[in-house]
Amino acid sequence: MSERTKMIAGNWKMHKTLAEARQLAREIVQGVGRETRVEVVLAPPYTALAAAAAEISGSNVKLCAQDTFWEEKGAFTGAIAPGMLADVGCTYVIVGHSERRQHFGDDDEAVNRKVHAVLAAGLKPIMCVGETLGEREDGKTFAVVETQVLNGLAGFPVSEHERLVIAYEPVWAIGTGKTATPGQAQEVHHLIRNLLADTLGTADIRILYGGSVTPDNAATLMAEPDLDGALVGGASLKAASFLGIIAATR
Ligand code: PGA
Repeated sequence: MSERTKMIAGNWKMHKTLAEARQLAREIVQGVGRETRVEVVLAPPYTALAAAAAEISGSNVKLCAQDTFWEEKGAFTGAIAPGMLADVGCTYVIVGHSERRQHFGDDDEAVNRKVHAVLAAGLKPIMCVGETLGEREDGKTFAVVETQVLNGLAGFPVSEHERLVIAYEPVWAIGTGKTATPGQAQEVHHLIRNLLADTLGTADIRILYGGSVTPDNAATLMAEPDLDGALVGGASLKAASFLGIIAATR
């Protein structure tokens, strides 16, 4: 039996005013209660991190940033350093989300730098990987995911493996309503777990699935042996659907 605690993380992306963020965080804290069976994580936009931190204070819900820069400080207008994210109360930082790769030019080298910077600040990276539709159709899914995992984790200190979370998010499933089947997800999660065992010497690392997870499909996805939780976009924007996913997670 695996002892990995399942994680449900809500990625709010570029949504929510301060008032909306406070209300959503409050509703989630109330709905989650004393839940410890599932680790619940919220990733608001930077502007709402402090407000969300205040709402979740004293609860089991954890705070996460959606991205970071890798430098500690300096003349980098518009950027946010990992130390600032620790200061505002984050525990986790999403790194390498496909929208960052697609719209902001984050390549594997940038992802790798960010992973190391997150560790250096005492935080935990949630590193995202996943193939595009074209790559899947060309039979390149495993090769693409393998490259992203190995490059993203280059030089990752084996002793820090407990702080690492991987999110497998097929790009064609993100925000499209097209979820990977449990079998498709499990196959890639298993590959990733084997890669982690080979490179870090342990398979005991949480691997989340992301891409159109809803309260309706969460239970069958989470039943797969190598799925340790979900990174949720659209369905994390309303307390009812996010709490529904948590409730469906065993
Ligand atoms: P989605 O987004 O749940 O809206 O598909 C997932 C993600 O981008 O993390």
